[in-house]
Amino acid sequence: MTWLPAASDTAQSVDLLFYSVLVLTGLMTLAIFALMIFFGVRYRAGSPADRTNPPPRKKWLELGWIFTPLAIFIGIFVWGAVVYAGFYRGGPDDAMTVFVVGKQWMWKAEHANGRREIDELHLPLGQPVRIVLSTEDVIHSFYVPAFRIKQDAVPGRYTSIRFTPTREGEYWLHCAEYCGTDHARMGGRVVVMAPAAFAQWLERGNQNPSLASQGFELFRRLGCSGCHVNSTVHAPDLAGVYGRVVHLSDGRTVVADEAYLRDSILLPKRDVVAGYEPIMPSFQGQLDEGQLSALITYLKENQ
Ligand code: CUA
Repeated sequence: MTWLPAASDTAQSVDLLFYSVLVLTGLMTLAIFALMIFFGVRYRAGSPADRTNPPPRKKWLELGWIFTPLAIFIGIFVWGAVVYAGFYRGGPDDAMTVFVVGKQWMWKAEHANGRREIDELHLPLGQPVRIVLSTEDVIHSFYVPAFRIKQDAVPGRYTSIRFTPTREGEYWLHCAEYCGTDHARMGGRVVVMAPAAFAQWLERGNQNPSLASQGFELFRRLGCSGCHVNSTVHAPDLAGVYGRVVHLSDGRTVVADEAYLRDSILLPKRDVVAGYEPIMPSFQGQLDEGQLSALITYLKENQ
């Protein structure tokens, strides 16, 4: 068995946590067994051990064995929560977004410049990445053991996960949620390349317009611009909406991320912006995942 490579920043933090817990619980187990054996021998039948009254209470000892393990295990909980939250840090930042769609039984990826790939995902070394996941049918789970990441793709919504590849090479990509006949064969590889090689790969053989320009085309063709740009219809202006804090008519506030933009297009009645009427029609059933990611990329870049 070869040691599973740790090829991302998340892998390093997950490993450190995992092996620390392993060592700690291993030591606890050893200590418990050592004491069992020690007491078993010491108080065996017929041994001359002292069996009189128990020793007087020692408060510091009792407090010690209650609060020391408590502090250690709460510390581990906090540590784990911090590592976990790191996968889902959202919002606008320097992370490169890649849209990945699960479909029985393949993974389809789309890069911002329009380059598409199936059952392969090329990524540049050292660049933070956000994978925005969706599915065209059932639940799939995007699983790259070398990155220590696993995230479900759930029908009808976006989920995302972020990490930074830290090692060049090829790594297995699997589906980790049973999704039908060919579930076991659903997967491929992730290729982490040096940034220059990645930039070359991204351009090579790409016939597609960028996601943002496909999105702009859709924005006009579907009539979005009719209401959302310089119009007499009372609709929110969408320039710079991505990453903004949006106040909703029911008093909630949300950060406009990909999931919010998706819901606003497909379920416009759900999150109505404060001060506006719920007059937008739903585009449910009229857009496939590729068109949605194009529209959303256009909105993100239209700052
Ligand atoms: Cu897709 Cu299992």
